[in-house]
Amino acid sequence: MDGQRFLVTGGAGYVGSHLVLTLVQRGAQVVILDNMRQGHQAAVPDGIELVQAEVGDRRRLAEVFAAWKFDAVFHFAALSLVGESMRDPLRYCIDNPSNSLILADAAVKAGCMKFVLSSTAALFGFPKQIPIDEDAEVAPVSAYGESKLMAERGLAWADRVHGLRSASLRYFNAAGADPGALIGEDHEPETHLIPLAIGAALGTRPPLTVFGTDYPTPDGTCIRDYIHVLDLADAHIRVLDRLTTASCRYNIGNGTGYSVREVMDAVERIGGRPVPHELGPRRPGDPAVLVASSAKLRAETGWTPRFGALDDIVRTAWDWHSKHPRGFDDRA
Ligand code: UFG
Repeated sequence: MDGQRFLVTGGAGYVGSHLVLTLVQRGAQVVILDNMRQGHQAAVPDGIELVQAEVGDRRRLAEVFAAWKFDAVFHFAALSLVGESMRDPLRYCIDNPSNSLILADAAVKAGCMKFVLSSTAALFGFPKQIPIDEDAEVAPVSAYGESKLMAERGLAWADRVHGLRSASLRYFNAAGADPGALIGEDHEPETHLIPLAIGAALGTRPPLTVFGTDYPTPDGTCIRDYIHVLDLADAHIRVLDRLTTASCRYNIGNGTGYSVREVMDAVERIGGRPVPHELGPRRPGDPAVLVASSAKLRAETGWTPRFGALDDIVRTAWDWHSKHPRGFDDRA
């Protein structure tokens, strides 16, 4: 990727920083745009340009696109909490689509015609069929899912009218960390299962609450498709070639589902300690099973996950959290 330059919004955040690391390792140049509310300075590699700004700030965007010429834009910066989106749906439905489309507009005006959007499995709501492929009905049951769908739809119009080629990547459950434990997951507040289970085992967080044990699954807990952040990063880079000819959308997961109990078992196996926990009621809005079909991504881009096994994902997360029990604060 030598000689190529990319704009990565949200590049100091969890998934974005793993893409930045991968791009840098492959010889690309990167400019990060991040408002640093969820981003971490310590997640930004030395020598990488960081523009601290809001994605929706048209004037700053115009300056960024005037200062550098980009081969593509990767857009991660967004509100991303399902629960929060149900308390403040308008904020999600206003901010996520409008920021995405303001960014797309700036890219088009600058002649940068490749755009990769972080989208989500939350588009599919309560799916009728598992695994979920790209033709599954889109029917979000959260304002978060709706907000990403609105962004995808706006981008489709930007393609039709302006020729902006976009890839909408519907992530399933992003998890894991850089195996060198240089960077990893550090959200505030943290709501995701794997960091909460590891934190409980390490004693840095309270006991985990298992949200529901009466789902129609073999052990009664919810099943999800956990996908390693570096496999996500690799998919982002592979889809760039597809954008030479047309816009595209892909579901990205490992294609295997694991229950909450299986995740807890994996944490106990890898960490060699129990996961203190209590059994609680269902969390509203949680589908029983979400598993991706990534057959299209595999067939069309040659993508194949390096971290296909749950233990491999959990091991990288365990290494990160045990080396940095207070997240990036330990590195500042
Ligand atoms: N869970 C618990 N206890 C917790 C946290 C989670 O039992 O304290 C359970 C949830 O009920 C769910 C599973 O663990 O069954 C995974 O939950 P996460 O909160 O880690 O992830 P979600 O599946 O809710 O959501 C994630 C992303 C969303 C995205 C979705 C798509 O956070 O942005 O995956 O699959 F939309």
